[in-house]
Amino acid sequence: MIDVEDLQQRMASLGKRRGFFSPSYEIYGGLAGFYDYGPLGTALKDNILALMKRIYVVENGLLSIDTPVITPHEVFESSGHVSEFTDFLTMCKQCGSSYRGDHLLEGLVHNPDALGKKELADALKDTEVKCPSCGGELGEPHPFNLMFQTHIGPGAASRKGYLRPETAQGIFINFQYLLTLNRGKIPMGVFQVGKGFRNEISPRQGVIRVREFDMAEAEIFFHPDKKEWPGFDAYKDMPVNLLPAKGDTISTNFGDAVKNNLILNEALAYFMAITKRILISCGLDGERLRFRQHERDEMAHYAQDCWDAEALLSYGWVELVGIADRSAYDLKQHQKGSGREMTVLDPYDEPVEMEVTRVIPVMKKLGPLFGKNAKHISHLIETMDVNELTKPLKITFEGNSITIPDDAYEIKSGMETIMGKQYIPHVVEPSYGIGRIFYAIMEHCYGESDGYVTLKFPAEMAPVKVGVFPLMDRDGMGERADQISALLRELRYSTRMDNSGSIGRRYARMDEIGTPFCVTVDYDTLKDDTVTIRERDSKMQIRIHLDDLPDVLKGLFSFKTLDEYGEPLRPAGSSTDE
Ligand code: ATP
Ligand code: GLY
Repeated sequence: MIDVEDLQQRMASLGKRRGFFSPSYEIYGGLAGFYDYGPLGTALKDNILALMKRIYVVENGLLSIDTPVITPHEVFESSGHVSEFTDFLTMCKQCGSSYRGDHLLEGLVHNPDALGKKELADALKDTEVKCPSCGGELGEPHPFNLMFQTHIGPGAASRKGYLRPETAQGIFINFQYLLTLNRGKIPMGVFQVGKGFRNEISPRQGVIRVREFDMAEAEIFFHPDKKEWPGFDAYKDMPVNLLPAKGDTISTNFGDAVKNNLILNEALAYFMAITKRILISCGLDGERLRFRQHERDEMAHYAQDCWDAEALLSYGWVELVGIADRSAYDLKQHQKGSGREMTVLDPYDEPVEMEVTRVIPVMKKLGPLFGKNAKHISHLIETMDVNELTKPLKITFEGNSITIPDDAYEIKSGMETIMGKQYIPHVVEPSYGIGRIFYAIMEHCYGESDGYVTLKFPAEMAPVKVGVFPLMDRDGMGERADQISALLRELRYSTRMDNSGSIGRRYARMDEIGTPFCVTVDYDTLKDDTVTIRERDSKMQIRIHLDDLPDVLKGLFSFKTLDEYGEPLRPAGSSTDE
């Protein structure tokens, strides 16, 4: 059994030595919270994303989009991130080190993430927590906004902006446009992959907590009354470990979890099930996975229910994916902030005539008062709900509250033909941290015996699909191996040639980077066009004709095993491999 800290050390060392991941900016002394992904790490990350795109975009038909990282202030003002996207920071009075207050209380009080400022300050006092680096006294905790702020453009005309902390807002602000592209159809799912940035207070857990990371987020918009979710039946029997906000872990299945009101609705359960499927396909161990429900006070400002997919790692249970029911929160906020409709028409069977009361802006008053902003402000006024009007009328424009004079708007009632009811859809959002999934795969697939390391990546995840070795680099074996490698690349298998050291050493190097299959060219290959193919997990080898290689590999990449294709050259599990 490998000791926990040892495992973290081994991950860091393997990550660096073989080109998976390593700390950034090392030649300038490093910078906490930033990591580089090397050639193998980048390939693994690409494979995770390719799997997610296949499931979300191809299988489930979500629309894939790509919006900017740099975002103007107004967007995050409306979304609530400017005021709410904070963690509590406490600083050591002696050495000045900064910490997230809730992290210092981990294991000492129940769910420290859910504590408000005062409760956190009390808990830090009661538990007498001291600075982990110097033992000094800690200062009062205060909220620290995690967004990186920037200025867009030069000089006086520059606008305040932020590096996005989530990709989601790029989807919400494009809602109407996307709905048009989707021909007005709801439910509608939108998927986005991209960088997220958070100025984490104390990023001390390797790639688990960094300041710049890859995210993949799906926003699924649906009618709030929708009870059933298409396709949910296929996942009803999938087993799942649930840790509800109140109570202990329950082993159940997704169907029963909805029936017993543990999970709010089928939409949420469906995307939790999809998430479990993705994580298992990535190579995570189902026994070390669970979904933990947030407590009320722990939830993000936009969420009405939230389940985290967590994996048991050397760091303890770590959130890999947050799956939240964001209700209509974001669209409502952006409707208010931008004055643009964020509604969908739910058509009546027949149009109806009815009396409608509306707020009508008076442009000839608004024009002189607000100049170039008048049109935007008029839009904000006419989309107001008459039931929510205040006197004097106040609206929020570009983050400021402004008063609209009584003569700049009218309230009018009249008969109209109404085609249906406008509503703001609800949203379920799975939000994946790709770096955390990446690291969880590394740990869950890591195996070691007698100092021999194997990363048991599923074939789909493996950065290198096939190792190709000439027994020796002479008598034409090297050229033959080159040809085979070229053929495999044409068939879209990434390959790696290795012609140095014993065949056993070469297998060991491939096992250490998780390559599922190796092909060896020897003297017989030159005579009869046969090669040996070796399977990483069983260590089994068989001899096949080169003409059969594409079909055999195709089978092996579709979950078949080598023993379905021929007699073993040596017993499975034999470790010599020579
Ligand atoms: P935590 O409580 O661990 O700070 P969070 O609840 O703030 O995480 P979310 O806001 O739900 O995380 O973000 C969605 C996903 O983004 C997370 O499930 C995680 O995988 C990833 N993520 C969030 N913060 C970081 C970070 N600093 N470094 C790497 N990945 C992150
Ligand atoms: N989009 C979810 C989050 O960043 O928290």
